[in-house]
Amino acid sequence: MKLISMAFSFLPLLALSLFLISINYVSTTPADTSFTCSADSPPSCQTYLTFRARSPYTALENISDLFGISRLSIAEASNLTLENEKILYDQLLLIPVTCSCNGNHYFSNVTYATKTGDSFYVVASSVFQNLTNYLAVEEMNPTLNPTNLTVGDQVIFPLSCCPKQNRDRYLITYVWQPEDEILHVSTMFNTSSYDVANENNFRNFTAAVCRPVLIPVSKLPTFPPPRHLPGSESKKSKKHQIIFIIFGTTGSFFLFVLSWFLIYRYRSRKSKRILAHNESSFEFTDLLNMKKVSKQEPLVPTKKNQDKLLPEVSGYLSKPIMYDRKEIMEATMNLSERYRIGGAVYKAMIHG
Ligand SMILES: *[C@@H]1O[C@H](CO)[C@@H](O)[C@H](O)[C@H]1NC(C)=O
Ligand SMILES: *[C@@H]1O[C@H](CO)[C@@H](O)[C@H](O)[C@H]1NC(C)=O
Ligand SMILES: *[C@@H]1O[C@H](CO)[C@@H](O)[C@H](O)[C@H]1NC(C)=O
Ligand SMILES: *[C@@H]1O[C@H](CO)[C@@H](O)[C@H](O)[C@H]1NC(C)=O
Ligand SMILES: *[C@@H]1O[C@H](CO)[C@@H](O)[C@H](O)[C@H]1NC(C)=O
Ligand SMILES: *[C@@H]1O[C@H](CO)[C@@H](O)[C@H](O)[C@H]1NC(C)=O
Ligand SMILES: *[C@@H]1O[C@H](CO)[C@@H](O)[C@H](O)[C@H]1NC(C)=O
Repeated sequence: MKLISMAFSFLPLLALSLFLISINYVSTTPADTSFTCSADSPPSCQTYLTFRARSPYTALENISDLFGISRLSIAEASNLTLENEKILYDQLLLIPVTCSCNGNHYFSNVTYATKTGDSFYVVASSVFQNLTNYLAVEEMNPTLNPTNLTVGDQVIFPLSCCPKQNRDRYLITYVWQPEDEILHVSTMFNTSSYDVANENNFRNFTAAVCRPVLIPVSKLPTFPPPRHLPGSESKKSKKHQIIFIIFGTTGSFFLFVLSWFLIYRYRSRKSKRILAHNESSFEFTDLLNMKKVSKQEPLVPTKKNQDKLLPEVSGYLSKPIMYDRKEIMEATMNLSERYRIGGAVYKAMIHG
């Protein structure tokens, strides 16, 4: 591929030297894509422009409105079905136009009503994606002031096109993109790189970035889906997958360690608790005694019993005692400070 592009980078030099040898060559301008016409050129013809579906012209109806062409003819040229007219962002479309010779250049006129913030340059470079340039627009609209347009002004945009075609050959206007390479573009149009270079007078395609060039085809191309969108998406999803895998692995590892740790702690606690339970077995009987005692003197629990009550609770933890909320509220006098022993822990007597 490098070899081929290297070969092509020499072609302009070759072409230039051939032109220099030729006695007829008088123009001093470097070889360029020619949209010129003369008196003996065909007056007008049907041809195609390429247009990328970009915001806000992403729906077929908007593109059809912009070019003043029926939706059906765009759909037919771009091999879209009208029912399923969902166009991908940046998708290349073929716009059928009538291209005419306007004295010395081939143009397809499109009338555009200016909106707020529009200038010839902005509309030519963003709305019409450099299919024309502001100088040609100024020439075409001599009555309008390029720096003071009124919203709603009808401006004629002359889009570059070329009808020089035989019955079995179209010349499609394509705006060269910064990332384009001749091999890639000719593959996209299913045409030969040589024909593309030849049709554009072996021009320097690096200098053609954001300018219209002509792509000769024998059959209307069907463009692949926009290349950078699905590509970046799959790259993104791959990236996401990798991140997901990394997080998943480390996450599950930590979960494993955590659960192992919890199980270990639970087991050691359980064994401790069994131990504690055995130790407190004598206290349990003691509590029963205490209960009897407290029934005799319900209001004044002895100091000895108070000390015993707290450790006793741990003995019951494996078998919690449930109390009614009403009972707790009554016993603590609505969680009174008097019964609080710290934080949200209260001490009170329920049923003795
Ligand atoms: C695109 O078409 C829709 C529906 O007809 C319309 O509401 C919207 O304003 C159009 N957008 C542009 C930029 O023309
Ligand atoms: C046009 O699209 C249809 C599917 O929508 C496909 O079957 C057909 O091959 C396409 N035509 C060309 C010329 O690529
Ligand atoms: C474009 O419009 C201008 C002004 O109406 C006209 O002079 C010119 O001939 C038109 N060119 C084409 C190619 O239709
Ligand atoms: C049109 O060309 C200009 C530079 O000449 C560039 O900044 C702009 O991005 C181009 N517009 C599009 C839609 O590619
Ligand atoms: C722009 O044009 C309007 C009328 O079309 C005029 O009133 C205004 O003064 C003009 N502004 C400038 C800066 O020329
Ligand atoms: C490309 O063009 C050749 C004929 O020039 C044709 O046989 C082939 O099917 C085309 N490929 C695609 C993908 O359209
Ligand atoms: C092509 O054009 C680019 C930018 O204008 C320039 O840097 C480069 O040297 C040119 N290449 C040739 C072979 O003329």
